[in-house]
Amino acid sequence: MDNYTSDFLVIGSGIAGLCFAIHASRFGTVTIITKKEDSESNTNYAQGGIACVLDRGDSFELHVRDTLTAGDGLCDEESVRIIVEEGPARIKDLIDWGVDFSHLSRAGNPYNLHLGREGGHSVNRIVHARDLTGRAVEEQLLSLIRANRSIRLFEHHFAVELITGHHLGNLRGTRENTCFGAYVLDTISRAILPVRAKFTCLATGGAGRVYLHTTNPSIATGDGYAMAYRAGAQIANMEFIQFHPTTLFHDGAPSFLISEALRGYGAVLCYADGREFMGDYHPLKSLAPRDIVARAIDHEMKMSGAPCVFLDIRSAPPAETKKHFPYIYRKCKGLGIDITRDLIPVVPSAHYTCGGIRVDHEGHADIDGLYACGEVACTGVHGANRLASNSLLEALVFSFRAAADAGSRLRNRARIPRESIPSWDDSGTIHNEEWILLSHDMTEIQSVMWDYVGIVRSNVRLSRALRRITLLEKEIENFYKRTKITVPLLELRNLVTTAKLIVLSAAKRKESRGLHFTTDYPEQNDRYWKKDTVLSNK
Ligand code: FAD
Ligand code: SIN
Repeated sequence: MDNYTSDFLVIGSGIAGLCFAIHASRFGTVTIITKKEDSESNTNYAQGGIACVLDRGDSFELHVRDTLTAGDGLCDEESVRIIVEEGPARIKDLIDWGVDFSHLSRAGNPYNLHLGREGGHSVNRIVHARDLTGRAVEEQLLSLIRANRSIRLFEHHFAVELITGHHLGNLRGTRENTCFGAYVLDTISRAILPVRAKFTCLATGGAGRVYLHTTNPSIATGDGYAMAYRAGAQIANMEFIQFHPTTLFHDGAPSFLISEALRGYGAVLCYADGREFMGDYHPLKSLAPRDIVARAIDHEMKMSGAPCVFLDIRSAPPAETKKHFPYIYRKCKGLGIDITRDLIPVVPSAHYTCGGIRVDHEGHADIDGLYACGEVACTGVHGANRLASNSLLEALVFSFRAAADAGSRLRNRARIPRESIPSWDDSGTIHNEEWILLSHDMTEIQSVMWDYVGIVRSNVRLSRALRRITLLEKEIENFYKRTKITVPLLELRNLVTTAKLIVLSAAKRKESRGLHFTTDYPEQNDRYWKKDTVLSNK
C-alpha cells in the first residue's frame, strides 16, 4: 500500500476503531488516522468496565432484560441480543490479546474474572481492570496494532470530510451515496490529503464537549456525527444525552469521573450530613438506572441550592476500597479527599451520546461503503438510555461484525482511481487573526447546551437554544468558508452542528422518555413516540 491508500480507512483510535482495524486486517490493508496522540480517546478514560454474561448466576435473558429496561422502550431488541450473546466471545478476544483484567482469588466463572456491579444491572457482570479498564484495553490494542504489518496508524491526522459522490460530481457511474475515504488534515505539516479506501469506518467517539461540564476528554467534539450528517447519512436519537450522576465536584479536577462501580461496591448518595436520599426516588436507590439517579441529584441540588451532593463509602474496609479503586483513591487523595474517611462531593455531567449515525446490524450506515462503530454509531442497543458498561461491549461486538461484513465484500469492490478524487480546494481562504473568537464561540455553545438542553428541558428552553445555536452555526460556517482550516476551527464547526442535531432531536420528541425529560410533556407517550428521532440533510 502507498502511504495513504488501503482497503480500509479507520477514523479514530479508541476501542471501536482499533478493534475494527485488527479484525479487518485479516482481510486486507488498513489505514488508521487519529486526530491527536494514538491513545487519546474516551476509551482511555473508561473506568467501570465491560458488561458481559459470564457468571453461572447470570443469563443472556437477564442482561437483555436489564438493557431493555434501561433503554425505556426504545431499544432494538435484536441489537441488544447481538451484543449480549456475542459479548463472551469478544471478551475472550481481549483476554487472548493480553488485556490484564482483574481476577478472582479463587476459581469462579470461565476465566476467573472478578465481576463488578453497576446501576441497572440485576447481578454482578462487569469485567474490569481495577478502576482503569479503558486504559488497560487501549494499551493492549495499540501494542497489537503496532506489531501488525497490515495496519498503518497516523497520529495527528484529522478527518475533515468524508469523500462521497458529491465530491466526484462529474464522474460518471458514481452514486451520490457512496463513501470513498476522507479528506484528512495532517496537523503537523498542515497538508490536506485525500485518503482513499474501499471501505471507511467512522469510529470518532462521542460529543461530551458540546456541554460545559463533561466527563469526556477534549477529543469528544462530535466530529463523526457532523461529518456523516454533512455527507447525507441518517442521524438518530441525538436527544438522548446521558449525564453521569457522579463527577467529582472540585476546582482542581474539572472532569474526573467517580465510577458507578463505586456504588456497585457499596457507596451511597447522600447529603452533606450523610443522610441518604435515593430511597425517595427508586427501589434500587443509589443503583437505579443513570437517568433516574442524575435527575434525582439535579432535583435535590435545585431544591436545596447546594452546589453538589455526596458519595459515602466510608463504611467499606479501607484496604479493600484502595485495592479495587486505586486510581480514584489516588486522584481524590491528591485533592485532599481521603475516600475511605471523607464524603466525596459529586455532580452530574454530560457523559455519553446514545444516538448517532444510524447503522444496521452489521454496523453499515446508509451511505455505501461507510461503517460506523462505537459511540458515534446508533445501533439501537441503548434506546433512550444506555445501561452502564454496555458501551465498550457494543463497540467490541459491532466493530467485529462491521469488519467481518466489510471483509466479505472486499473482493467485489473496486477502489476509486486516485485521479478521480479532486484535491482539497481552499482557494480564496486566508489566515484569519481572530482566533480568540473561536474559543468565545465554543464557550457560548457549551453554556447554551448546559443551560437549556441539559437534564431537564422545556419548549421555551429548547427554542431559546435553537435560536442561539442556529445563529452561531451561521457565523461559524461563514468564518470557515473564508479561513484556512485549523483543528480548533474544524472542531468548533463540528461541535455546533452536533449541538444543533441534539437540539433539533430534543425539540422533535414531544414526550419524556429515558434521558429526555421535558416539563412540557412529562409523560411517556408510546402511541406516538415509541420510535427513533431521525435527522438527515438529504
Ligand atoms: P473513543 O474511544 O472516544 O475514540 C474516538 C477516537 O476518534 C479518538 O482516537 C479520537 O481522537 C478520534 N477522532 C475523533 N474525531 C476525529 C477526527 N475528526 N479525525 C481523526 N480522529 C478523530 N463505557 C463503558 O462501557 N464502561 C465504562 O466503564 C466506561 N467508563 C467511562 C468513563 C469515562 C470517563 C468516559 C468519558 C466514558 C466512559 N465510558 C464507559 C464510555 C466509553 O468509554 C466510550 O463510549 C467508548 O470508549 C467509546 O469508544 P469509541 O472507540 O467509540 O470512541
Ligand atoms: C463508570 O465507570 O461509572 C462509567 C461506566 C459507563 O459509562 O458505562
